[in-house]
Amino acid sequence: MAQVVLENIYKNFPLRQGEQEKEANTSESVSPDADARLLSNTVLRRINLTVEDGEFMVLVGPSGCGKSTLLRSIAGLEIVTAGNIWVGDRLVNDLPPKDRDIAMVFQNYALYPHLSVYDNLAFGLRRSRRKKEEGSATDFVTDVTDKRKTFVGRRKKEERRRKKEEEMVGDSNNLGDSDSVNYLIQSWLEDLLVGITRRLPPGLRYLSEREKLVGDRVLKVAQLLQIESFLHRLPKQLSGGQKQRVALGRAMARNPEVFLMDEPLSNLDAKLRAETRSQIVQLQRQLGTTTIYVTHDQTEAMTMGDRIAIMDGGQLQQVAQPLELYRKPANLFVAQFIGSPPMNFLQVQFTAPLLVSHPQFRFTLPDIWAKNLQQYDGRSLILGIRPEHLSIHPPATKNLSVQVDIVEALGHETYLQVSLTDAPAVQMQVRVPPDRTVRVGEELWLAIAHDKIHLFDPDTELAIFPR
Ligand SMILES: Nc1ncnc2c1ncn2[C@@H]1O[C@H](COP(=O)(O)OP(=O)(O)O)[C@@H](O)[C@H]1O
Ligand SMILES: [Mg+2]
Repeated sequence: MAQVVLENIYKNFPLRQGEQEKEANTSESVSPDADARLLSNTVLRRINLTVEDGEFMVLVGPSGCGKSTLLRSIAGLEIVTAGNIWVGDRLVNDLPPKDRDIAMVFQNYALYPHLSVYDNLAFGLRRSRRKKEEGSATDFVTDVTDKRKTFVGRRKKEERRRKKEEEMVGDSNNLGDSDSVNYLIQSWLEDLLVGITRRLPPGLRYLSEREKLVGDRVLKVAQLLQIESFLHRLPKQLSGGQKQRVALGRAMARNPEVFLMDEPLSNLDAKLRAETRSQIVQLQRQLGTTTIYVTHDQTEAMTMGDRIAIMDGGQLQQVAQPLELYRKPANLFVAQFIGSPPMNFLQVQFTAPLLVSHPQFRFTLPDIWAKNLQQYDGRSLILGIRPEHLSIHPPATKNLSVQVDIVEALGHETYLQVSLTDAPAVQMQVRVPPDRTVRVGEELWLAIAHDKIHLFDPDTELAIFPR
């Protein structure tokens, strides 16, 4: 187990040839965006993050924000442009993936189709770190690629990438240090003995020491993941969820210092996703392995993480415990991203000491805001309010008059989409108790829970906190 520390990580991807030409052409004309474009291949910018020993950290953000790049950098599948990556007290920047003691689970759980579940789980354990054997172990992957792809350059690149990824999921050997020739002869002999004695009663069957160790480990992992009843099956005889558990098991069997998981549940249907989600969390608790889990799904982030790191545009926006993120988002991006349905936003005018006004309503803020809002006297602010902090109330100047556009009755709760009566373009979401019957087209008055509002500086988009 180990802490993972990321220090000032930057990652630039070289522009591709086509992009470089475009770049050269456009830079001749004077363009105010030239600087921005030069930075356009910077995918990670100054990432600083400490994942504590044994922590479950969720990395969340919209598609394309750099999550996979960051994870792949930690794994050693990408080389960072600047910055340091520490695993425990080891600086791993220059270590190849297989020496980082990290196991990674990918979205496309590439299992070996011709191997049983047992052998898929045992695969990494049986392998030696020796170069020669590494070659033979990845042959299968490259064979498959060879048959399918004809375009040489692309194929080679793809091969290299897959080879590296294979090392991540499959490579490990905690089980012995015999040299490669000895090992090959020994395994051949043992395979022969295993084959000859297979049909004998259990006590007479031959099991090598190594295979016993492998077997123990495979069984332990299989029990943890509840896949022991189909250890003999081939991957094609498994459902998506079972395949994903085998992929997890393969990573777990290695007992690495750190687990990295890149959207491992996105190929599963909603129900299975929810089940596997809680299973992964339980497993992580049992094993206590430091884990970084990538997702673009804020529900997964909220339910799985000890802490959540939110990313946008290659930068970390906030790192905090789930409920803290929900209650105290640091900026507009986080406020919009966390919460479903999302927070509502209204542009309001502020007058010191505590008056908030909008063409439709005005109210006085609680005293705790006075100090930090002084400097905003006479300026506009963005007011944020979550759907559950609006409620149906009688008319009043401090309340909002709205019209109901959509009613979503979910059974245990009901969400309304409403628009402001005097400004129909402004839409909001409201949560109401399920027993309250509301019709589309109905006019309602909504009260804002004044102790639950969020305020943001419209220029910096940073949150302003009370007190
Ligand atoms: N090998 C690469 N070469 C150039 N650009 C890349 C490469 N890999 C990823 N990118 C770019 O980096 C950005 C972040 O990608 P990625 O880390 O995959 O995002 P995420 O996982 O958050 O969806 C994207 O704009 C993507 O196009
Ligand atoms: Mg990704």
